[in-house]
Amino acid sequence: MENPIVIWFFGLSGSGKSTLSNLLLKQLKNQGISSVSIDGDQLRTGINQDLGFSSEDRMENIRRSAEIAKLFLENHQVVLASFISPEESHREKVREILGSNVRFVFVDAALQTCQSRDVKGLYQNVSKGTLSNFTGISAPFDRPSQVDLIVDTNEQTTNQCLEQILHTFFDER
Ligand code: ADX
Repeated sequence: MENPIVIWFFGLSGSGKSTLSNLLLKQLKNQGISSVSIDGDQLRTGINQDLGFSSEDRMENIRRSAEIAKLFLENHQVVLASFISPEESHREKVREILGSNVRFVFVDAALQTCQSRDVKGLYQNVSKGTLSNFTGISAPFDRPSQVDLIVDTNEQTTNQCLEQILHTFFDER
């Protein structure tokens, strides 16, 4: 891509951010577009392992992650970033760092849907009381007022969401 972009997927844990990002990564590679993906689980085991889930720590997690995305961008990579980014201020920070190069995709799924998927078994831990500050339950998630795209993983299949993303951001083929 001549002017690579960062696709910033955000939404609840279990909403489908990483699933979409991984599929999109494959699709872009097939199209010969150099891309990388980064996500919270990955970065929090390494560079961000000193951070927890308070609002402030999430802000720092997001800030560092956006700076990393910027480095990739400067190396001509499309970046697929998946972070809950729960508060409006977190998304504003991303905008501040990445400017006009970022596209926000809200991966929308009802909390109930995420709970019933419970891919990582985390929601079960929340209900047992062993996990606190959990987004959507004991920590806030601000629904966005302005985004570039909303994909609804309750209503649409993964492939439909993927098509929508490709059509919206990569249809200059
Ligand atoms: S963010 O809020 O700072 O953007 P991030 O996307 O990096 O979060 O990390 C979220 C991941 O951390 C979740 O997908 C989940 O696997 C794990 N996690 C562990 N504890 C929590 C928590 N209290 N709230 C949300 N996610 C958590």
